Amino acid sequence: MKKTIKDIDVKGKKVLLRLDLNVPLNKETGEISDDTRIMESLTTINYLCESRAKVLICSHLGRPEGIDKKYSLKPVADRLEKILKHKVFFAEDTIGKDAKAKAKVLNDGEILVLENLRFDKREEENDATFCKELASLANIYVNDAFGTAHRKHASTYGVAKLLPNAVGFLMSKEIKVINSILDNPKRPFIAILGGAKIKDKIPVIENLITKADSILIGGGMSYTFKKALGGNVGKSLVDEEKITLAKELIEKAKANNVELVLPIDTVCATEFSNDAKPKKFPSDQIPDEFMGMDIGKKTIKLFKRYIKNAGTVVWNGPLGVFEFNKFAKGTNKIAKFVSKSKAFSFIGGGDSASAVIKSGYAKEVNHISTGGGASLNMLEGKILPGVDVITNLEDENEPKKEEAKKKAGTKKTSSSKTTKKQPAKKATTTKKTTAKTSSTKKTTAKK
Ligand code: 3PG
Repeated sequence: MKKTIKDIDVKGKKVLLRLDLNVPLNKETGEISDDTRIMESLTTINYLCESRAKVLICSHLGRPEGIDKKYSLKPVADRLEKILKHKVFFAEDTIGKDAKAKAKVLNDGEILVLENLRFDKREEENDATFCKELASLANIYVNDAFGTAHRKHASTYGVAKLLPNAVGFLMSKEIKVINSILDNPKRPFIAILGGAKIKDKIPVIENLITKADSILIGGGMSYTFKKALGGNVGKSLVDEEKITLAKELIEKAKANNVELVLPIDTVCATEFSNDAKPKKFPSDQIPDEFMGMDIGKKTIKLFKRYIKNAGTVVWNGPLGVFEFNKFAKGTNKIAKFVSKSKAFSFIGGGDSASAVIKSGYAKEVNHISTGGGASLNMLEGKILPGVDVITNLEDENEPKKEEAKKKAGTKKTSSSKTTKKQPAKKATTTKKTTAKTSSTKKTTAKK
């Protein structure tokens, strides 16, 4: 189990809090279009402020190449201040003069947001000097950026090696939920996987084939499976290089007694456009001039049956060209069924999360992850570097236990001196043997 902020004393300490404040921005106005990630970070921020820590928040925003004011975290800091109704200071740089000066005068319970970490390319390189500078701003490091925990960057990995560290409440919650789904799901456990590219989902399918009861596949990647089974998919998106692998996955699923459920009807179009005229075909009989754009009515009904009977539902990836209204029906319907199902429902961030939020039923979902890539990595069975690097509570307690054992041992030995002579003798012999061994080691080393 990882150390959490509840396991450390933060009072009066400078806490470097890594959050994932990579919020979507409106392309035209640059305004924050969805503040879910800010809202999900509040529990940890509030806890640190109430515990009288000096809170230094750092995050990335977008993928800027060098300093690009379009990706400044200032609007995010302003939004945070508005939500918290609590003064939020902002540093114009990340590890520069302004950050250092403002961090120095920060009082207990105050918040300072540092400028976008990715304005310095050393962040993504996990550069040693950058890690050191970042660490020098604080006494403690807390990682609550679940959405970025699959990145091995300075602020998610390197800095944790330099400071006493812990995870925040959001990180704890996300890890707990995903691990409990993978280790002890309520059955039947179904996974719904969509998205355009099959190569992105292969490791998830491979891992879930050993855990789920049924895997429902839709979206762009379903056409590679259909073609692998000998179907005609017209000019739908197909990854020719993955056809053999798709066949192998179908066989592996059969061998593991896992149902791999593919679409039976597909809404198609002759061009990739929202203006294209939709036409429906059986999923393995798509004419050459058509491409698959969404799952059809019969597939929606079929998937609904699985969702209705499920104990656990994990969903990642849209089931059609969700960005075009005309072809978003499959994704939207599935969003509604998943939200309303009695199963424990988990949505793996990204487009599926947006679809659920848009459906208006988000509150009925058990868990909407703040991490698309990160949750996918966990479903693949991978260990996230940003989590792995945090101190294990057991390891932290080990030296204390050892110390206690030693103390207890000393007490025993001293009392045994008077009552049990024999064991005392034995101890001396052991010591001698140990000394011998170590000298043997030395000799070997010399050689
Ligand atoms: C995300 O939005 O998935 C995270 O913030 C990680 O962002 P990145 O993919 O740019 O590293």
